[in-house]
Amino acid sequence: MAPGNQIDRGLPPSIQPTEKILILDFGSQYTQLIARRVRELEVFSEIVPFSMSASELAAKKPYGIILSGGPASVYAEGAPLCDPALFSLSVPILGICYGMQLMAHLLGGSVEKSSRREYGRTHLTIKENTDLFAGLAREIPVWMSHGDKIDRLPDEFESIAVTEHSPAAVIRHRKRPFYGLQFHPEVSHTPDGTHLLENFIRSICGCKPTWNMGLYLKEAQQRIKEEIGHRSAIAAISGGVDSTVAAVLVQQAIGDRLRCVFVDNGLLRKNEAQEVSETLSRLHLNLKLINAEEQFLTKLSSVKDFEERRKIIGQEFISLFEQEARADHEIAYLVQGTLYPDLIESGLKNGLSAKIKTHHNVGGLPEKMNLSLVEPLRFLFKDEVRKLGAALQIPASILNRHPFPGPGLAVRILGDVTKEKLNRLREADAIVEEEIRAANLYQAIWQAFAVDLSVQSVGVMGDKRTEESVIAVRAVTSIDGMTADWAKIPHDVLASISTRITNEVHGVNRVVYDISSKPPSTIEWG
Ligand code: XMP
Repeated sequence: MAPGNQIDRGLPPSIQPTEKILILDFGSQYTQLIARRVRELEVFSEIVPFSMSASELAAKKPYGIILSGGPASVYAEGAPLCDPALFSLSVPILGICYGMQLMAHLLGGSVEKSSRREYGRTHLTIKENTDLFAGLAREIPVWMSHGDKIDRLPDEFESIAVTEHSPAAVIRHRKRPFYGLQFHPEVSHTPDGTHLLENFIRSICGCKPTWNMGLYLKEAQQRIKEEIGHRSAIAAISGGVDSTVAAVLVQQAIGDRLRCVFVDNGLLRKNEAQEVSETLSRLHLNLKLINAEEQFLTKLSSVKDFEERRKIIGQEFISLFEQEARADHEIAYLVQGTLYPDLIESGLKNGLSAKIKTHHNVGGLPEKMNLSLVEPLRFLFKDEVRKLGAALQIPASILNRHPFPGPGLAVRILGDVTKEKLNRLREADAIVEEEIRAANLYQAIWQAFAVDLSVQSVGVMGDKRTEESVIAVRAVTSIDGMTADWAKIPHDVLASISTRITNEVHGVNRVVYDISSKPPSTIEWG
């Protein structure tokens, strides 16, 4: 690949297992979950835009295609439609919810608004034994979420399972391997859903379990060697799981030609710079520490908008790396630990998913960059990265660390970012982590941290009125950060956190606990 700012959106051919399932995304909040379920069955899955043409789909040589759900109605103006030619590809197809209605619509049936919406748990009664239902009971609980229904099936289709309000809850083509499910097999509320997907993937598509991290590791390293050749690369290390796994992967492929740079941007957690450099030197990474606190804080001073902050931080990072790279002409590549959800959340997937936040390692890249990107994790989910890290023998203490956002504490201070607030926040944050660890809750929690609300409240200390800062504590449970629940931390642990923060952190007289889930909130406050 020639140097330049190129982001290849597909997994390089040499890393793609031959047996794969493509998932056409029609905008459902569950599309990623379908991809994860397929991968849990050890078959590679890739999410592609609904608009991909049949010939492009065929070029990817899928063993099966899944049409995801989506919020639209197939009969609505501007509804996302797939290329009808995909039904001529001789590839098994499974439509889920909107995907099933779309298949019916495009193959000659009709779909209309249902007189009653079917939402939540219901019972599916299986009318006919087929490969899709192998090993399932005649009646199984399923999760429905739809307001449209198939009014007339296409000629060659038949209904093979029903629910109380859906006479066509599962449909199949009489001669070809096309199936449709009105319910969502990918959600945990459909307990037999994975079994059903497994039947589709194994028996109908013929995929064997071929997707595992050992294989990925071998092939990714081969690919990295070929791509970087005799040049050198620079890796942006944050001390978190993703950038560490990406760097170790590349280091094992090209050795010391990988230069790792860890930037102390002044937005890190307490003692982080020191701890990270100690751990990384144990991993034999060729590491350089850059102190750029003044540079970052000056650029951020009086920037209120969080998106603006993310972009500034991203740009500063990139310009530092370019500066490092200029000092060594062999460096032509920049390694980043971008994950699959980062690409999707940055709205790069297709026009359907709204941009939620600019994740700096994706959205903040300048238009022109003199380094080519190497993103060896960009098709992996977080849990897969942890498995890959274990295969690389990275210590569990790094792999199990809570995620920390690239823009650091700048997205956890609601008002102006100042040194004083940063120091206060670092102290409060360290207390949150210590208490969560002491209560043995660290592993069960996805992220726990403190947020500076930049507001003053009235309090009383030693009989005197105070006006000091309020700190919010945020702790969430989550599988992949895409959705999250606020953590039900025992009250006595919250009490110790609050007491310690107000006693030990100068300038704080009140601590509040954030009880919002994602959605509607996000995990970070900014
Ligand atoms: P949100 O706040 O979007 O966070 O619910 C989801 C997950 O992503 C992390 N996060 C980021 N990570 N750069 C990153 O590298 C960012 O700009 C960024 N913003 C949020 C967040 O900590 C959580 O794990």
